[in-house]
Amino acid sequence: TVLIIDFGSQVTQLIARRVREEGVYSEVVPFQKGAEAVARLKPKAIILSGGPASVIEGESPKAPDAAFTAGVPVLGICYGEQCMAAQLGGTVEAGHHREFGRAEVTIKKVVPLFDGVWKDGERHTVWMSHGDRVTALPEGFEVVATSDNAPFAAIADVARGYYGVQFHPEVVHTPDGARLLSNFVRKVAGLEGTWTMGAFRERAIARIREQVGTGRVICGLSGGVDSSVAAVLIHEAIGEQLTCVFVDHGLMRQGEADEVVSLFRGHYNIPLVHVDAADLFIGALEGIEDPEQKRKTIGKLFIDVFEAEAKKVGGADFLAQGTLYPDVIESVSFAGGPSVTIKSHHNVGGLPARMNMKLVEPLRDLFKDEVRALGRELGLPETFVGRHPFPGPGLAIRCPGGITREKLEILRKADAIYLEEIRYAGLYDVIWQAFAVILPVRTVGVMGDGRTYDHVLALRAVTSVDGMTADFYPFDMGFLGRVATRIINEVKGVNRVVYDVTSKPPGTIEWE
Ligand code: XMP
Repeated sequence: TVLIIDFGSQVTQLIARRVREEGVYSEVVPFQKGAEAVARLKPKAIILSGGPASVIEGESPKAPDAAFTAGVPVLGICYGEQCMAAQLGGTVEAGHHREFGRAEVTIKKVVPLFDGVWKDGERHTVWMSHGDRVTALPEGFEVVATSDNAPFAAIADVARGYYGVQFHPEVVHTPDGARLLSNFVRKVAGLEGTWTMGAFRERAIARIREQVGTGRVICGLSGGVDSSVAAVLIHEAIGEQLTCVFVDHGLMRQGEADEVVSLFRGHYNIPLVHVDAADLFIGALEGIEDPEQKRKTIGKLFIDVFEAEAKKVGGADFLAQGTLYPDVIESVSFAGGPSVTIKSHHNVGGLPARMNMKLVEPLRDLFKDEVRALGRELGLPETFVGRHPFPGPGLAIRCPGGITREKLEILRKADAIYLEEIRYAGLYDVIWQAFAVILPVRTVGVMGDGRTYDHVLALRAVTSVDGMTADFYPFDMGFLGRVATRIINEVKGVNRVVYDVTSKPPGTIEWE
Protein backbone atom coordinates (compact mmCIF):
# COMPACT_ATOMS: atom_id res chain seq x y z
CA THR A 1 0.00 0.00 0.00
CA VAL A 2 1.00 3.57 -0.70
CA LEU A 3 -0.53 5.85 1.93
CA ILE A 4 -1.59 9.28 0.78
CA ILE A 5 -1.96 11.79 3.59
CA ASP A 6 -4.42 14.45 2.55
CA PHE A 7 -4.04 18.09 3.49
CA GLY A 8 -7.16 19.12 1.59
CA SER A 9 -5.97 19.69 -1.97
CA GLN A 10 -8.65 19.58 -4.65
CA VAL A 11 -6.60 17.04 -6.57
CA THR A 12 -5.56 14.53 -3.89
CA GLN A 13 -7.71 11.82 -5.45
CA LEU A 14 -5.69 12.11 -8.62
CA ILE A 15 -2.56 11.07 -6.72
CA ALA A 16 -4.33 7.90 -5.62
CA ARG A 17 -5.44 7.18 -9.16
CA ARG A 18 -1.97 7.69 -10.65
CA VAL A 19 -0.47 5.30 -8.08
CA ARG A 20 -3.13 2.69 -8.79
CA GLU A 21 -2.50 3.03 -12.50
CA GLU A 22 0.94 1.69 -11.64
CA GLY A 23 -0.74 -1.40 -10.25
CA VAL A 24 -0.05 -0.42 -6.64
CA TYR A 25 -2.90 -0.10 -4.15
CA SER A 26 -3.21 3.30 -2.53
CA GLU A 27 -5.43 4.81 0.12
CA VAL A 28 -6.19 8.42 1.01
CA VAL A 29 -6.62 9.46 4.65
CA PRO A 30 -7.11 12.92 6.14
CA PHE A 31 -3.98 14.19 7.90
CA GLN A 32 -5.70 14.00 11.28
CA LYS A 33 -5.78 10.22 10.89
CA GLY A 34 -2.29 9.90 9.43
CA ALA A 35 -0.63 8.34 12.47
CA GLU A 36 -3.35 5.73 12.90
CA ALA A 37 -3.18 4.90 9.18
CA VAL A 38 0.61 4.43 9.21
CA ALA A 39 0.22 1.95 12.07
CA ARG A 40 -2.74 0.14 10.50
CA LEU A 41 -1.65 -0.06 6.86
CA LYS A 42 2.11 -0.32 7.31
CA PRO A 43 2.56 1.47 3.98
CA LYS A 44 5.59 0.83 1.77
CA ALA A 45 5.66 4.50 0.78
CA ILE A 46 3.92 7.70 1.85
CA ILE A 47 2.81 10.72 -0.19
CA LEU A 48 1.94 14.03 1.46
CA SER A 49 -0.61 15.93 -0.62
CA GLY A 50 -0.97 19.61 -1.32
CA GLY A 51 -3.41 21.72 0.62
CA PRO A 52 -4.73 25.22 1.16
CA ALA A 53 -3.08 25.87 4.54
CA SER A 54 0.19 27.65 5.25
CA VAL A 55 2.99 25.94 7.16
CA ILE A 56 3.98 29.15 8.87
CA GLU A 57 0.58 29.83 10.36
CA GLY A 58 0.43 28.64 13.96
CA GLU A 59 -2.16 25.87 13.85
CA SER A 60 -1.18 24.47 10.48
CA PRO A 61 -1.80 20.79 9.71
CA LYS A 62 1.19 18.51 10.20
CA ALA A 63 2.26 15.17 8.88
CA PRO A 64 2.38 12.52 11.61
CA ASP A 65 5.86 11.89 12.98
CA ALA A 66 5.29 8.25 12.14
CA ALA A 67 5.55 9.18 8.46
CA PHE A 68 9.21 10.02 9.02
CA THR A 69 10.04 7.24 11.45
CA ALA A 70 8.48 4.41 9.42
CA GLY A 71 11.66 4.08 7.37
CA VAL A 72 9.84 4.26 4.04
CA PRO A 73 10.17 6.72 1.14
CA VAL A 74 8.15 9.92 1.42
CA LEU A 75 7.11 12.26 -1.38
CA GLY A 76 5.83 15.70 -0.40
CA ILE A 77 3.82 17.58 -2.98
CA CYS A 78 3.41 21.37 -2.68
CA TYR A 79 2.10 21.89 0.88
CA GLY A 80 3.41 18.39 1.57
CA GLU A 81 6.89 19.49 0.53
CA GLN A 82 6.78 22.47 2.86
CA CYS A 83 5.47 20.35 5.66
CA MET A 84 8.24 17.83 5.23
CA ALA A 85 10.90 20.53 5.03
CA ALA A 86 9.60 22.35 8.11
CA GLN A 87 9.15 19.18 10.19
CA LEU A 88 12.60 17.86 9.33
CA GLY A 89 14.36 21.07 10.35
CA GLY A 90 14.33 23.31 7.28
CA THR A 91 12.78 26.76 6.90
CA VAL A 92 9.67 27.81 5.03
CA GLU A 93 8.83 31.43 4.33
CA ALA A 94 5.57 33.12 3.51
CA GLY A 95 4.98 33.82 -0.13
CA HIS A 96 2.04 35.47 -1.76
CA HIS A 97 -1.40 34.24 -2.46
CA ARG A 98 -1.48 30.56 -3.39
CA GLU A 99 -2.42 30.06 -7.01
CA PHE A 100 -1.87 27.53 -9.74
CA GLY A 101 0.06 28.27 -12.85
CA ARG A 102 2.20 26.87 -15.58
CA ALA A 103 5.91 27.11 -14.82
CA GLU A 104 9.20 25.79 -16.10
CA VAL A 105 11.65 23.88 -13.98
CA THR A 106 15.34 23.41 -14.70
CA ILE A 107 16.84 20.10 -13.70
CA LYS A 108 19.97 20.41 -11.56
CA LYS A 109 20.65 16.79 -10.82
CA VAL A 110 19.27 13.46 -11.94
CA VAL A 111 17.92 11.53 -8.95
CA PRO A 112 15.89 8.28 -8.97
CA LEU A 113 12.65 10.32 -9.10
CA PHE A 114 13.70 11.75 -12.47
CA ASP A 115 15.31 8.58 -13.79
CA GLY A 116 14.62 8.09 -17.50
CA VAL A 117 12.26 11.08 -17.55
CA TRP A 118 14.28 14.24 -16.96
CA LYS A 119 17.97 14.85 -17.73
CA ASP A 120 20.44 17.24 -16.19
CA GLY A 121 20.11 20.82 -17.46
CA GLU A 122 16.80 20.26 -19.26
CA ARG A 123 13.81 22.55 -18.82
CA HIS A 124 10.30 21.11 -18.41
CA THR A 125 6.78 22.39 -17.99
CA VAL A 126 5.03 21.74 -14.68
CA TRP A 127 1.88 22.94 -12.93
CA MET A 128 3.11 24.90 -9.96
CA SER A 129 1.28 26.28 -7.01
CA HIS A 130 2.81 29.48 -5.73
CA GLY A 131 2.48 30.26 -2.06
CA ASP A 132 4.84 29.68 0.80
CA ARG A 133 8.16 28.29 -0.20
CA VAL A 134 11.04 26.39 1.23
CA THR A 135 14.06 28.64 1.83
CA ALA A 136 16.44 26.46 3.83
CA LEU A 137 16.79 22.73 3.50
CA PRO A 138 16.73 20.15 6.24
CA GLU A 139 19.88 18.15 6.74
CA GLY A 140 20.58 15.55 4.09
CA PHE A 141 18.55 17.31 1.40
CA GLU A 142 19.72 18.95 -1.81
CA VAL A 143 18.03 20.98 -4.53
CA VAL A 144 17.46 18.91 -7.65
CA ALA A 145 15.32 21.30 -9.71
CA THR A 146 14.64 25.02 -9.64
CA SER A 147 12.29 27.48 -11.27
CA ASP A 148 12.23 31.26 -11.48
CA ASN A 149 9.78 31.60 -8.62
CA ALA A 150 10.75 28.55 -6.65
CA PRO A 151 14.48 28.00 -6.20
CA PHE A 152 13.55 24.80 -4.34
CA ALA A 153 11.15 23.46 -6.98
CA ALA A 154 12.31 19.91 -6.22
CA ILE A 155 14.40 18.71 -3.30
CA ALA A 156 15.70 15.28 -2.43
CA ASP A 157 17.39 13.21 0.22
CA VAL A 158 18.20 10.25 -1.98
CA ALA A 159 19.59 8.11 0.84
CA ARG A 160 16.31 8.16 2.78
CA GLY A 161 14.11 8.24 -0.33
CA TYR A 162 12.63 11.60 0.68
CA TYR A 163 11.51 13.89 -2.13
CA GLY A 164 9.67 17.18 -2.18
CA VAL A 165 8.21 18.93 -5.21
CA GLN A 166 6.64 22.37 -5.26
CA PHE A 167 4.68 21.45 -8.41
CA HIS A 168 1.81 19.00 -8.86
CA PRO A 169 2.89 15.81 -10.68
CA GLU A 170 -0.63 14.33 -10.38
CA VAL A 171 -2.35 16.79 -12.75
CA VAL A 172 -2.30 16.43 -16.53
CA HIS A 173 -0.90 19.95 -16.87
CA THR A 174 2.40 18.50 -15.67
CA PRO A 175 3.02 16.41 -18.79
CA ASP A 176 5.68 14.16 -17.24
CA GLY A 177 3.95 13.99 -13.86
CA ALA A 178 2.59 10.46 -14.19
CA ARG A 179 6.07 9.15 -15.05
CA LEU A 180 7.58 10.91 -12.04
CA LEU A 181 4.98 9.32 -9.77
CA SER A 182 5.68 5.99 -11.45
CA ASN A 183 9.37 6.45 -10.61
CA PHE A 184 8.53 7.22 -7.00
CA VAL A 185 6.42 4.09 -6.67
CA ARG A 186 8.57 1.69 -8.66
CA LYS A 187 12.16 2.97 -8.49
CA VAL A 188 12.28 4.86 -5.20
CA ALA A 189 9.94 2.61 -3.21
CA GLY A 190 10.71 -0.51 -5.29
CA LEU A 191 7.08 -1.60 -5.46
CA GLU A 192 5.76 -3.94 -8.11
CA GLY A 193 2.47 -3.57 -9.90
CA THR A 194 0.55 -6.54 -8.54
CA TRP A 195 -2.74 -4.75 -7.87
CA THR A 196 -4.63 -5.82 -10.99
CA MET A 197 -8.35 -6.18 -11.53
CA GLY A 198 -7.91 -9.95 -11.67
CA ALA A 199 -6.35 -9.91 -8.22
CA PHE A 200 -8.98 -7.50 -6.94
CA ARG A 201 -11.75 -9.78 -8.19
CA GLU A 202 -10.38 -12.78 -6.30
CA ARG A 203 -9.92 -10.85 -3.07
CA ALA A 204 -13.32 -9.15 -3.34
CA ILE A 205 -15.05 -12.50 -3.81
CA ALA A 206 -13.31 -13.94 -0.77
CA ARG A 207 -14.30 -10.91 1.28
CA ILE A 208 -17.96 -11.07 0.21
CA ARG A 209 -18.14 -14.78 1.14
CA GLU A 210 -16.59 -14.06 4.49
CA GLN A 211 -18.96 -11.18 5.23
CA VAL A 212 -22.17 -12.79 4.03
CA GLY A 213 -21.66 -16.40 5.07
CA THR A 214 -24.92 -18.19 4.40
CA GLY A 215 -26.98 -14.96 4.57
CA ARG A 216 -29.16 -13.59 1.81
CA VAL A 217 -28.36 -10.43 -0.16
CA ILE A 218 -30.66 -8.13 -2.06
CA CYS A 219 -29.30 -5.73 -4.68
CA GLY A 220 -31.05 -2.83 -6.39
CA LEU A 221 -30.20 -2.51 -10.08
CA SER A 222 -30.43 0.80 -11.92
CA GLY A 223 -29.20 -0.24 -15.35
CA GLY A 224 -26.00 1.70 -14.67
CA VAL A 225 -22.45 0.40 -14.50
CA ASP A 226 -21.91 0.47 -10.72
CA SER A 227 -24.92 -1.53 -9.58
CA SER A 228 -24.50 -3.99 -12.46
CA VAL A 229 -20.84 -4.68 -11.68
CA ALA A 230 -21.59 -5.02 -7.97
CA ALA A 231 -24.39 -7.50 -8.70
CA VAL A 232 -22.33 -9.67 -11.05
CA LEU A 233 -19.42 -9.75 -8.62
CA ILE A 234 -21.64 -10.68 -5.67
CA HIS A 235 -23.35 -13.35 -7.73
CA GLU A 236 -19.98 -14.83 -8.57
CA ALA A 237 -19.22 -14.94 -4.85
CA ILE A 238 -22.47 -16.31 -3.42
CA GLY A 239 -24.62 -17.42 -6.36
CA GLU A 240 -28.27 -17.96 -5.53
CA GLN A 241 -28.02 -16.23 -2.17
CA LEU A 242 -28.33 -13.01 -4.20
CA THR A 243 -31.59 -11.58 -5.51
CA CYS A 244 -31.60 -8.48 -7.70
CA VAL A 245 -34.48 -6.04 -7.75
CA PHE A 246 -34.89 -3.78 -10.74
CA VAL A 247 -37.39 -1.00 -10.08
CA ASP A 248 -38.33 0.08 -13.59
CA HIS A 249 -39.66 3.61 -13.24
CA GLY A 250 -40.56 3.89 -16.91
CA LEU A 251 -38.08 6.73 -17.33
CA MET A 252 -35.27 4.73 -18.94
CA ARG A 253 -34.00 5.22 -22.45
CA GLN A 254 -35.18 3.19 -25.42
CA GLY A 255 -34.63 -0.53 -24.98
CA GLU A 256 -32.73 -0.08 -21.74
CA ALA A 257 -35.08 -1.86 -19.36
CA ASP A 258 -35.22 -4.93 -21.65
CA GLU A 259 -31.45 -4.91 -21.87
CA VAL A 260 -31.08 -5.06 -18.09
CA VAL A 261 -33.57 -7.89 -17.82
CA SER A 262 -32.06 -9.98 -20.60
CA LEU A 263 -28.49 -9.42 -19.41
CA PHE A 264 -29.21 -10.52 -15.86
CA ARG A 265 -31.77 -13.25 -16.46
CA GLY A 266 -30.53 -14.48 -19.80
CA HIS A 267 -26.79 -14.00 -19.89
CA TYR A 268 -25.88 -14.32 -16.22
CA ASN A 269 -28.85 -16.30 -14.95
CA ILE A 270 -29.06 -14.12 -11.84
CA PRO A 271 -32.40 -14.17 -10.00
CA LEU A 272 -34.05 -10.87 -10.91
CA VAL A 273 -37.31 -9.29 -9.81
CA HIS A 274 -38.41 -6.82 -12.49
CA VAL A 275 -40.92 -4.38 -11.02
CA ASP A 276 -42.74 -2.55 -13.79
CA ALA A 277 -43.68 0.60 -11.90
CA ALA A 278 -44.01 2.95 -14.88
CA ASP A 279 -47.69 3.71 -14.24
CA LEU A 280 -47.02 4.44 -10.61
CA PHE A 281 -44.13 6.85 -11.30
CA ILE A 282 -45.68 8.60 -14.27
CA GLY A 283 -48.93 8.94 -12.35
CA ALA A 284 -47.14 10.47 -9.36
CA LEU A 285 -45.33 12.92 -11.61
CA GLU A 286 -48.47 14.17 -13.27
CA GLY A 287 -48.76 17.93 -13.10
CA ILE A 288 -45.34 18.41 -11.46
CA GLU A 289 -43.19 20.96 -13.26
CA ASP A 290 -40.66 21.95 -10.62
CA PRO A 291 -37.34 20.11 -11.07
CA GLU A 292 -36.66 19.57 -7.36
CA GLN A 293 -40.21 18.40 -6.85
CA LYS A 294 -39.74 15.86 -9.64
CA ARG A 295 -36.50 14.60 -8.13
CA LYS A 296 -37.97 14.27 -4.67
CA THR A 297 -41.11 12.52 -5.89
CA ILE A 298 -39.07 9.96 -7.81
CA GLY A 299 -36.57 9.43 -5.00
CA LYS A 300 -39.23 8.81 -2.39
CA LEU A 301 -41.37 6.55 -4.56
CA PHE A 302 -38.30 4.56 -5.53
CA ILE A 303 -37.50 3.80 -1.92
CA ASP A 304 -41.11 2.85 -1.14
CA VAL A 305 -41.30 0.46 -4.08
CA PHE A 306 -37.91 -1.06 -3.40
CA GLU A 307 -38.69 -1.59 0.25
CA ALA A 308 -42.00 -3.27 -0.54
CA GLU A 309 -40.29 -5.61 -3.02
CA ALA A 310 -37.52 -6.42 -0.58
CA LYS A 311 -40.14 -7.45 1.94
CA LYS A 312 -41.80 -9.70 -0.63
CA VAL A 313 -38.50 -11.40 -1.44
CA GLY A 314 -38.12 -11.80 2.31
CA GLY A 315 -35.36 -12.98 4.57
CA ALA A 316 -32.61 -10.77 3.18
CA ASP A 317 -29.95 -9.85 5.73
CA PHE A 318 -27.82 -7.67 3.49
CA LEU A 319 -28.37 -4.81 1.08
CA ALA A 320 -25.80 -4.51 -1.71
CA GLN A 321 -24.79 -1.11 -2.98
CA GLY A 322 -22.50 0.11 -5.73
CA THR A 323 -20.84 2.72 -3.48
CA LEU A 324 -17.56 3.97 -4.98
CA TYR A 325 -14.33 5.22 -3.42
CA PRO A 326 -14.97 8.92 -4.11
CA ASP A 327 -18.17 8.57 -2.03
CA VAL A 328 -16.29 7.24 0.98
CA ILE A 329 -13.00 9.15 0.97
CA GLU A 330 -13.15 11.30 4.04
CA SER A 331 -12.39 14.81 3.00
CA VAL A 332 -10.36 17.27 4.97
CA SER A 333 -12.72 20.08 5.75
CA PHE A 334 -11.49 23.55 6.44
CA ALA A 335 -13.66 26.44 7.51
CA GLY A 336 -16.08 27.25 4.75
CA GLY A 337 -19.83 27.52 4.75
CA PRO A 338 -22.14 24.70 3.83
CA SER A 339 -22.44 24.39 0.08
CA VAL A 340 -25.76 25.06 -1.59
CA THR A 341 -27.82 22.20 -2.92
CA ILE A 342 -27.93 22.62 -6.67
CA LYS A 343 -29.83 19.39 -7.27
CA SER A 344 -30.93 16.68 -4.90
CA HIS A 345 -29.36 13.56 -6.31
CA HIS A 346 -31.16 10.31 -6.46
CA ASN A 347 -29.67 6.91 -7.19
CA VAL A 348 -29.80 3.33 -6.10
CA GLY A 349 -26.93 4.02 -3.71
CA GLY A 350 -29.15 6.28 -1.66
CA LEU A 351 -31.36 3.63 -0.07
CA PRO A 352 -32.00 4.52 3.53
CA ALA A 353 -30.60 3.07 6.69
CA ARG A 354 -34.20 2.62 7.83
CA MET A 355 -34.26 -0.66 5.92
CA ASN A 356 -32.24 -1.94 8.83
CA MET A 357 -30.02 -4.23 6.80
CA LYS A 358 -26.28 -4.66 6.79
CA LEU A 359 -24.52 -3.24 3.75
CA VAL A 360 -22.40 -5.08 1.22
CA GLU A 361 -20.35 -2.57 -0.74
CA PRO A 362 -17.78 -4.47 -2.79
CA LEU A 363 -16.78 -1.44 -4.90
CA ARG A 364 -16.07 0.99 -2.10
CA ASP A 365 -12.31 0.86 -2.75
CA LEU A 366 -12.62 1.62 -6.47
CA PHE A 367 -12.68 4.65 -8.71
CA LYS A 368 -15.17 4.77 -11.59
CA ASP A 369 -12.66 3.79 -14.25
CA GLU A 370 -11.58 0.86 -12.07
CA VAL A 371 -15.20 -0.27 -11.81
CA ARG A 372 -15.32 -0.26 -15.60
CA ALA A 373 -12.14 -2.34 -15.75
CA LEU A 374 -13.64 -4.78 -13.24
CA GLY A 375 -16.81 -4.97 -15.33
CA ARG A 376 -14.73 -5.98 -18.35
CA GLU A 377 -12.88 -8.51 -16.20
CA LEU A 378 -16.26 -9.98 -15.22
CA GLY A 379 -17.30 -10.21 -18.87
CA LEU A 380 -19.96 -7.50 -18.90
CA PRO A 381 -20.58 -6.38 -22.49
CA GLU A 382 -18.71 -3.28 -23.61
CA THR A 383 -21.98 -1.46 -24.39
CA PHE A 384 -22.79 -1.76 -20.69
CA VAL A 385 -19.39 -1.03 -19.24
CA GLY A 386 -18.55 1.97 -21.42
CA ARG A 387 -21.98 3.54 -21.14
CA HIS A 388 -22.41 7.28 -20.56
CA PRO A 389 -23.64 8.24 -17.07
CA PHE A 390 -27.42 8.33 -16.75
CA PRO A 391 -29.13 10.15 -13.88
CA GLY A 392 -31.24 8.26 -11.34
CA PRO A 393 -34.42 10.26 -12.12
CA GLY A 394 -33.94 9.34 -15.78
CA LEU A 395 -35.79 11.04 -18.59
CA ALA A 396 -38.01 12.93 -16.12
CA ILE A 397 -35.30 15.59 -15.78
CA ARG A 398 -34.87 15.77 -19.57
CA CYS A 399 -38.46 16.78 -20.00
CA PRO A 400 -38.75 20.33 -18.58
CA GLY A 401 -42.32 21.22 -17.65
CA GLY A 402 -44.98 18.56 -17.25
CA ILE A 403 -44.19 14.93 -18.05
CA THR A 404 -46.47 12.94 -20.31
CA ARG A 405 -46.16 9.51 -21.88
CA GLU A 406 -46.30 11.14 -25.31
CA LYS A 407 -43.35 13.44 -24.55
CA LEU A 408 -41.35 10.56 -23.08
CA GLU A 409 -41.96 8.51 -26.23
CA ILE A 410 -40.82 11.36 -28.49
CA LEU A 411 -37.76 11.89 -26.32
CA ARG A 412 -36.83 8.19 -26.40
CA LYS A 413 -36.97 7.99 -30.18
CA ALA A 414 -35.02 11.19 -30.75
CA ASP A 415 -32.41 10.31 -28.13
CA ALA A 416 -31.85 6.90 -29.76
CA ILE A 417 -31.26 8.47 -33.17
CA TYR A 418 -28.85 11.01 -31.71
CA LEU A 419 -26.83 8.36 -29.87
CA GLU A 420 -26.82 6.09 -32.91
CA GLU A 421 -25.33 8.89 -35.03
CA ILE A 422 -22.74 9.67 -32.32
CA ARG A 423 -21.68 6.01 -32.22
CA TYR A 424 -21.62 5.85 -36.00
CA ALA A 425 -19.34 8.93 -36.12
CA GLY A 426 -16.97 7.22 -33.64
CA LEU A 427 -17.53 9.92 -31.03
CA TYR A 428 -19.29 7.99 -28.26
CA ASP A 429 -16.18 7.38 -26.17
CA VAL A 430 -14.80 10.88 -26.69
CA ILE A 431 -17.96 12.39 -25.22
CA TRP A 432 -18.70 12.14 -21.49
CA GLN A 433 -22.44 12.33 -21.91
CA ALA A 434 -24.86 13.05 -24.76
CA PHE A 435 -28.63 13.19 -24.69
CA ALA A 436 -31.72 14.93 -25.99
CA VAL A 437 -34.10 17.18 -24.03
CA ILE A 438 -37.70 17.78 -25.10
CA LEU A 439 -38.70 21.40 -24.53
CA PRO A 440 -42.08 22.60 -23.31
CA VAL A 441 -42.52 24.91 -26.31
CA ARG A 442 -43.95 24.33 -29.73
CA THR A 443 -42.87 26.20 -32.81
CA VAL A 444 -44.24 26.56 -36.33
CA GLY A 445 -42.69 24.70 -39.22
CA VAL A 446 -43.49 23.61 -42.72
CA MET A 447 -43.35 20.04 -43.96
CA GLY A 448 -44.29 19.23 -47.51
CA ASP A 449 -47.08 21.69 -48.21
CA GLY A 450 -48.40 21.73 -44.69
CA ARG A 451 -47.94 23.79 -41.59
CA THR A 452 -46.64 22.02 -38.49
CA TYR A 453 -46.82 23.12 -34.87
CA ASP A 454 -44.63 20.76 -32.88
CA HIS A 455 -42.09 20.30 -30.11
CA VAL A 456 -38.56 21.69 -30.01
CA LEU A 457 -35.83 19.23 -29.14
CA ALA A 458 -32.49 20.30 -27.67
CA LEU A 459 -29.36 18.20 -28.07
CA ARG A 460 -26.64 18.20 -25.44
CA ALA A 461 -23.14 16.69 -25.52
CA VAL A 462 -20.30 17.47 -23.14
CA THR A 463 -16.76 16.40 -22.41
CA SER A 464 -15.70 16.08 -18.79
CA VAL A 465 -13.42 14.08 -16.51
CA ASP A 466 -15.63 13.82 -13.46
CA GLY A 467 -18.91 15.58 -14.21
CA MET A 468 -17.97 18.45 -11.90
CA THR A 469 -17.03 20.73 -14.76
CA ALA A 470 -17.78 20.19 -18.43
CA ASP A 471 -17.37 21.73 -21.88
CA PHE A 472 -19.97 21.48 -24.62
CA TYR A 473 -18.78 19.25 -27.44
CA PRO A 474 -17.89 21.15 -30.64
CA PHE A 475 -19.60 18.94 -33.24
CA ASP A 476 -19.17 19.99 -36.80
CA MET A 477 -22.25 21.62 -38.28
CA GLY A 478 -22.60 18.92 -40.91
CA PHE A 479 -23.04 16.32 -38.17
CA LEU A 480 -25.61 18.40 -36.30
CA GLY A 481 -27.50 19.07 -39.52
CA ARG A 482 -27.66 15.34 -40.29
CA VAL A 483 -28.95 14.48 -36.83
CA ALA A 484 -31.55 17.26 -36.96
CA THR A 485 -32.84 16.11 -40.35
CA ARG A 486 -33.10 12.50 -39.23
CA ILE A 487 -34.93 13.40 -36.02
CA ILE A 488 -37.43 15.69 -37.72
CA ASN A 489 -38.08 13.16 -40.49
CA GLU A 490 -38.30 10.11 -38.28
CA VAL A 491 -39.85 11.34 -35.05
CA LYS A 492 -43.42 12.52 -35.27
CA GLY A 493 -44.02 15.48 -32.98
CA VAL A 494 -40.68 17.27 -33.44
CA ASN A 495 -40.19 19.99 -36.05
CA ARG A 496 -37.17 21.88 -34.74
CA VAL A 497 -33.81 20.87 -33.24
CA VAL A 498 -31.35 23.13 -31.38
CA TYR A 499 -27.89 22.47 -29.91
CA ASP A 500 -26.90 23.50 -26.38
CA VAL A 501 -23.54 25.34 -26.34
CA THR A 502 -23.37 25.97 -22.59
CA SER A 503 -20.45 24.69 -20.53
CA LYS A 504 -20.54 23.81 -16.82
CA PRO A 505 -20.30 26.15 -15.01
CA PRO A 506 -22.41 28.19 -15.58
CA GLY A 507 -24.78 25.53 -16.91
CA THR A 508 -25.19 22.10 -15.35
CA ILE A 509 -25.00 19.00 -17.51
CA GLU A 510 -28.62 17.99 -17.11
CA TRP A 511 -31.23 20.67 -17.74
CA GLU A 512 -33.05 20.10 -14.45
P1 XMP B 1 -25.30 18.02 -13.35
O1 XMP B 1 -26.59 18.10 -14.12
O2 XMP B 1 -25.48 18.30 -11.89
O3 XMP B 1 -24.88 16.49 -13.45
O4 XMP B 1 -24.21 18.84 -13.98
C1 XMP B 1 -23.61 15.98 -13.15
C2 XMP B 1 -23.65 14.48 -13.42
O5 XMP B 1 -24.51 13.83 -12.49
C3 XMP B 1 -25.56 13.16 -13.17
N1 XMP B 1 -26.78 13.31 -12.37
C4 XMP B 1 -27.27 12.35 -11.54
N2 XMP B 1 -26.84 11.10 -11.28
N3 XMP B 1 -28.64 10.79 -9.78
C5 XMP B 1 -27.56 10.33 -10.41
O6 XMP B 1 -27.20 9.16 -10.18
C6 XMP B 1 -29.14 12.04 -9.98
O7 XMP B 1 -30.14 12.44 -9.41
C7 XMP B 1 -28.40 12.86 -10.93
N4 XMP B 1 -28.58 14.13 -11.39
C8 XMP B 1 -27.56 14.38 -12.27
C9 XMP B 1 -25.64 13.84 -14.53
O8 XMP B 1 -26.23 12.98 -15.49
C10 XMP B 1 -24.19 14.13 -14.79
O9 XMP B 1 -23.50 12.98 -15.24
